[in-house]
Amino acid sequence: VSSAPLPLDVAAALGDEFDYVAPPAQLERAEFLARASSADALITLLTEPVDSEVFDACPGLKIVANCAVGFDNVDVAEATRRGVIVTNTPGVLTDATADFAFALLLGAARRLVEGDRMVRGGDWTGWKPTELLGATVSGQTLGIVGMGRIGRAVARRAAGFGMRVIYAGRSGSTGKDDSDGAQAVDLDGLLAQADFVSIHCPLTPETHHLIDGSALAAMKPSAVLVNTARGPIVDEAALVAALAEGEIAAAGLDVFEAEPQVHPGLRASDRVVLAPHAGSATTVTRGLMATMCTDAIKAVMGGRRPSHVVNPEVYA
Ligand code: DGY
Repeated sequence: VSSAPLPLDVAAALGDEFDYVAPPAQLERAEFLARASSADALITLLTEPVDSEVFDACPGLKIVANCAVGFDNVDVAEATRRGVIVTNTPGVLTDATADFAFALLLGAARRLVEGDRMVRGGDWTGWKPTELLGATVSGQTLGIVGMGRIGRAVARRAAGFGMRVIYAGRSGSTGKDDSDGAQAVDLDGLLAQADFVSIHCPLTPETHHLIDGSALAAMKPSAVLVNTARGPIVDEAALVAALAEGEIAAAGLDVFEAEPQVHPGLRASDRVVLAPHAGSATTVTRGLMATMCTDAIKAVMGGRRPSHVVNPEVYA
């Protein structure tokens, strides 16, 4: 059972041994739970809370294949308690998401959406030396919060722009250059030095509102914040205030605290580029994510261990 249509012929990918009926559209919760009741395997989206309610509704469940690299929507501890394997889709979306983070960085720095609106709205009256002046990207300092697969892929793109890359990672180590020449700093040092801050850590209790009012106040007034990770890592109300008060210059946001709702202060701000959680949205990438889910289900139902288990303790 999947909670929404996927960009893959799931029935064909699973093969004849499986009984999969494609949902006609994204399912309401009650409909999803009803369909899930006899399922061995679920393909879930990041928008679907996978919690006790799901596990109770689905007593025969063996695997939750979450069609995302992030799995903050899944109560992994509860899954483990119930002996349910949880998998995710790392790797295949790294480049697409890093490309999109860079697109937001460039778009916010160079005021791309404001320019588009001006031209489209017929308000452009001709080239002016003072019009739509944005921030320089090349040669500036990029601060990456969370140096995992996607963070490193963003750092590689930054190298092409001659940027200095600093990062704050989970280990908290500082001063060490990693193989790509990025320098580890603590979060305070990163916020103080970076011209661009791009977030690439998972959402956990520790990273919830990691970028709060005081973090935003610690950034340069000229800084640009990019978030393609998870909305609740940034305190959205504090971001609105920081933009209004000129504590930072701009933001490029693909994710929001209460998707699909977006804080009205962000929607009203010209200095924010907004995207609908589209970081991994290429045809190829989304197809590969769905395929990773069907592969994981085939592995589990065939008695094999799938490649990307987020709760390996379930095998203990
Ligand atoms: C993920 O995979 O976690 C992204 O947010 C969507 O691709």
